[in-house]
Amino acid sequence: MKAHLTRRYLFSASHRLHSDDMSDEENAATYGKCNNPYGHGHNYVLGVTVSGPVDEKTGMVCNLVDLDGFVQVAILDRFDRQNLNMLPEFTEVVPTTENLSSMIYDILQRGFTHAHLETVGIEETMMNSFEYAGGSEIRR
Ligand code: NI
Repeated sequence: MKAHLTRRYLFSASHRLHSDDMSDEENAATYGKCNNPYGHGHNYVLGVTVSGPVDEKTGMVCNLVDLDGFVQVAILDRFDRQNLNMLPEFTEVVPTTENLSSMIYDILQRGFTHAHLETVGIEETMMNSFEYAGGSEIRR
């Protein structure tokens, strides 16, 4: 029996959407108020979905202690309360939530071995959310 497990995590971070590949005017036209030089913050809701066979002994896809421990160290400790633009991961990548989703997916994909990673979703605001399921390279 295979099942999916989705766990939600909260973190807060700020960002400014700005691409060095574009002029200031193009950035303003492209990103609008998200290009504000002082940035702005979000309370992100991260959803991590994993799948796998339900262990006959434990009845679980994976132990939440393992998932929570990994996400805490690899994701939350890294991104919570940060200015995303200041992180090495985003020196050449615009910290959109699309890019953040794929970055978090790659970190989990590489390091979390207790279950198969299906998707990473991020709710940025009440009005928009993003989902990434791997499979295609994003230009870095
Ligand atoms: Ni934003």
